[in-house]
Amino acid sequence: MIGTGMMRLGFVFSIAVAIASAQDGKALFEKKCSFCHATTTDERKLGPSLKGLKNGTMPDAIGRAATRENILLKVNDGGNGMPVFRDLLTKEEKDAIVAYAMTL
Ligand code: HEC
Repeated sequence: MIGTGMMRLGFVFSIAVAIASAQDGKALFEKKCSFCHATTTDERKLGPSLKGLKNGTMPDAIGRAATRENILLKVNDGGNGMPVFRDLLTKEEKDAIVAYAMTL
């Protein structure tokens, strides 16, 4: 009985963490990324709109999939006008931003 209760608590807790990190991700995204990336329109700012990442493809489609790995790679390495965030964000911040970006 205790075991089941603990498991259920763990499950609820991990959902709460996932929701919390998507919300932190939104606030962080607004601070660090929204200057260059639109999220609700197709408008191109300094970078392409990231609207539609949840559909699985990057906006400037060269056919790359909008996976966690590919988004994280871009955040870490930047390039072509995208800043290098490797040392500017913690692992937790990057995870939160990427999780949020994948809801766009
Ligand atoms: C100073 C402007 C600027 C900021 C700030 C910025 N980006 Fe970018 N970003 C760009 C540009 C420009 C590109 C296009 C680069 C390219 O074509 O390779 C880009 C590309 C991307 C791509 C790849 C899109 C594609 O189609 O391949 C992703 C994902 C991305 N940015 C996410 C982010 C995230 C997340 C943040 C915040 C941590 C962020 N960017 C902050 C300018 C910016």
